[in-house]
Amino acid sequence: MTTHKIATLPGDGIGNEVVPVAMDVVNRLGEMHGFTMEWEIQDWGCERYVREGSMMPSDALDQIASSDAIFLGAVGAPGVPDHVSLWGMLIPIRRRFDQYVNLRPAKILRGIPSPLKDDRAQNFDMVVIRENVEGEYSAIGGRLYSGSDNELAIQENVFTRRGVTRVMAYAFELAQKRGNHLTSATKSNGIIHTMPFWDEIFDEMSARHADVTVDQYHIDALVAMFVLDPSRFDVVVASNLFGDILTDLSAAMAGSIGIAPSANINPERIHPSMFEPVHGSAPDIAGKGIANPIGQVWSAVLMLEHLGHPVAAKHLMHSMEEVIASEVRTPDIGGTATTHEVAEALMAQIDADLSQFTSQGR
Ligand code: NAD
Ligand code: IPM
Ligand code: MN
Repeated sequence: MTTHKIATLPGDGIGNEVVPVAMDVVNRLGEMHGFTMEWEIQDWGCERYVREGSMMPSDALDQIASSDAIFLGAVGAPGVPDHVSLWGMLIPIRRRFDQYVNLRPAKILRGIPSPLKDDRAQNFDMVVIRENVEGEYSAIGGRLYSGSDNELAIQENVFTRRGVTRVMAYAFELAQKRGNHLTSATKSNGIIHTMPFWDEIFDEMSARHADVTVDQYHIDALVAMFVLDPSRFDVVVASNLFGDILTDLSAAMAGSIGIAPSANINPERIHPSMFEPVHGSAPDIAGKGIANPIGQVWSAVLMLEHLGHPVAAKHLMHSMEEVIASEVRTPDIGGTATTHEVAEALMAQIDADLSQFTSQGR
């Protein structure tokens, strides 16, 4: 029996409500498909920050470095400045473990109509590959002349040839496995150093992947195209900030930010990868028992694929889609179900679907 050590970080707000749902369903799948998860749960987050002055212990990253994967809920709570909580936990994990690919699928699931009216929005299936460790998210910069009329803030963007090349290489390879179409998000008309550099590397990489159809759009035009006709996109590669914005949008276009998953991947597998939903800690609904667990559960599907359990991953994805189609849905996707009711429906569906996923081997 394979055992996986999973550093489990529910974090803040609804993270504590949706992570246990995903753990339960994965445990059930483990019994069926022959693996066990050792969930090593840590209480890192904003409550710890308020209590002890830091989001995580000083050796936190060493503690989880040898895990097989990291499973995270969400980070951030009212009362703790977001840049303090996020740079105290989520962002250091992505960076220390060189999780330079942030893979964020978005597609229409049966039973959840897109809030967009146009027919072309009712059937899309795309993956955004977001650069995850450099770009606009940088610690370089600072603030000067506080309190004077000359007060200013400077934030440097850092794009390295190695960093851009490797994330684009991942995106091209993914496009080759999907619809052979890759779109690059740029803004080289207005941002005159980094984005022309991004485009240049995209051109070089395109020449080396002649089988992939490529296009590129300025981010402002691209968001409009997302809304007008998402069905034209297959794989989209974007810088850290552009990818962040595009994926709340693609999640909303697919029905709700509560369903969108993400994988923070270290493709070389030198370090653990991290799986977490796209959404945050949702303080506005935390504690009400109505958080949609689907984003967390779909993130578990990505984790199962990464850990080498493709059949269990397919099984979970299938059962998840069946539950959504059966109208057991939380309010954000038009239903009246609670988190708990979705969890129960998922467990029952996983059991009911077992026979379809046993003969294929592991
Ligand atoms: P958010 O994603 O937490 O919430 C945005 C809106 O979506 C809210 O109305 C919320 O109720 C709704 N929503 C989100 N997830 C949902 C779910 N699973 N089910 C139903 N509804 C859901 O974004 P925000 O309000 O900008 O941020 C709240 C906090 O979370 C902030 O501290 C922010 O920094 C943090 N945050 C953390 C992460 C992360 O840990 N990866 C991601 C985004 C935001
Ligand atoms: C996400 C979040 C984070 C990001 C924030 C909370 C720092 O929005 O994972 O999309 O911008 O990466
Ligand atoms: Mn985001």
